[in-house]
Amino acid sequence: MAHQTEDKHNPFEPDRPATPAYFAGRTRELQTCLRAMRATANGTPTSLLIVGERGIGKTSLARACDYVATEGQVGVPGQPTQFVSAWVVAEGGMPLNDVWGRLLRQLDTLAERAAWDSVRQWLRTNIRGVTVGSLGVTIDPQANGATVTETLAAAIHQLSARALAEDKSIMLIVDELDMMEDCAAFASSFRALWQHLTVSLSVTNVMFILVGRLGVEDQLAAGHPSLARELTRVHLPLMPPEEMRELFDEYLQRAAPPRQAEEYVSSRVCDLSQGYPTFLQELGYGLVEVDDDNLLDEADLLDALAGTAGYEGVLPRLGAKYFDRKMFTEIRSERPRDILRVLADAAVDPSRPQGWVQRRHIAELVGVESGSLSPYLNSLMDSGLVERDPTRSGHYRIGSFLLGLYVRFIHSIGPQLYPERLFPEY
Ligand SMILES: Nc1ncnc2c1ncn2[C@@H]1O[C@H](COP(=O)(O)OP(=O)(O)OP(=O)(O)O)[C@@H](O)[C@H]1O
Ligand SMILES: [Mg+2]
Repeated sequence: MAHQTEDKHNPFEPDRPATPAYFAGRTRELQTCLRAMRATANGTPTSLLIVGERGIGKTSLARACDYVATEGQVGVPGQPTQFVSAWVVAEGGMPLNDVWGRLLRQLDTLAERAAWDSVRQWLRTNIRGVTVGSLGVTIDPQANGATVTETLAAAIHQLSARALAEDKSIMLIVDELDMMEDCAAFASSFRALWQHLTVSLSVTNVMFILVGRLGVEDQLAAGHPSLARELTRVHLPLMPPEEMRELFDEYLQRAAPPRQAEEYVSSRVCDLSQGYPTFLQELGYGLVEVDDDNLLDEADLLDALAGTAGYEGVLPRLGAKYFDRKMFTEIRSERPRDILRVLADAAVDPSRPQGWVQRRHIAELVGVESGSLSPYLNSLMDSGLVERDPTRSGHYRIGSFLLGLYVRFIHSIGPQLYPERLFPEY
């Protein structure tokens, strides 16, 4: 059936967190989140800490939680528990007081949306002590930390009481925690806030979802050693193959016109993605862009990877988004490519949680003398593609987990497979 051009829709979302209604997979992690939501709705406030590598789906999961909670899908059927929610994104280098200032402003917006006028009135009269500026809330950077947490706690308490009267709970999300100026300061401030809320004020219907990249836990621990233990940790690993497949199939069905994929294409897309949803979204997006007969076949996959007149291509897009040109210079020669490949495999090997590989072992896997690796390793370290363990001699790993995935991605396409179009330099 012919479709109008205005009906065209590419549902893949390579540049933004998944739309909650499209969110796929992550069944186990979502269950953990749901348990925390139910506990909160039943009077045991339970906060979450979502952690994982860059682009693994943390914000998508937090948005899915927000959606499920605010759509009233948390309770048992027939007895739904409704949440109201507010979001803060900590963004690059944001000082602690700005994060809390934003949260206060979001609480005001939340009260406005819910038409809780008494709460808005309370906020207007009571948060003055720590605010300056006419455009909403800005906490004075000099403001005393204890005053700030007490004010926040009091504001949340107001909302919580109003919400409780309507049988509602509150979800407060702080995303990109690791990006803020001082995560350790956040940890102690948050801990004081949480104690204040749950112990002093006996608030029962509020939960936080804190979101940050792997490593954020160490930063939080530096501010408050036991904070992490008080949060329910949700770690996002790479997605299992069946969830990747589910994700791909669901998005294809949502395309307009709907697309079918040849089995070869579906399994190749899932293999290339390696459980990393960002890659799958890029590949899916590219495939739908280049397809013109509603059937995704091998030729479409090649076009999607390399690009066409009207579409940039997955490889150039990923390269431009995440990697430096140095990387392409290095992988043009065989030896650095082999070394990177060994380190890339180690980076995703769960039995090597930190991805370190001994130089002797690299040499064995590459098939050369250990001594001959030096110039290559040095050059790779100069480019920032490889790092050396500062605590142990002769241990190396790839510069980042994502770089490891990308090296494997390129390797799996293989210059031998599509030489001219994908790797004109060869
Ligand atoms: N469960 C999912 N279903 C569908 N798409 C997903 C899912 N998880 C992640 N994605 C996709 O993967 C990409 C990265 O997702 P997201 O932005 O949520 O990751 P992130 O971990 O928050 O990244 P960052 O570390 O950069 O903040 C996006 O393109 C998003 O659409
Ligand atoms: Mg994110």
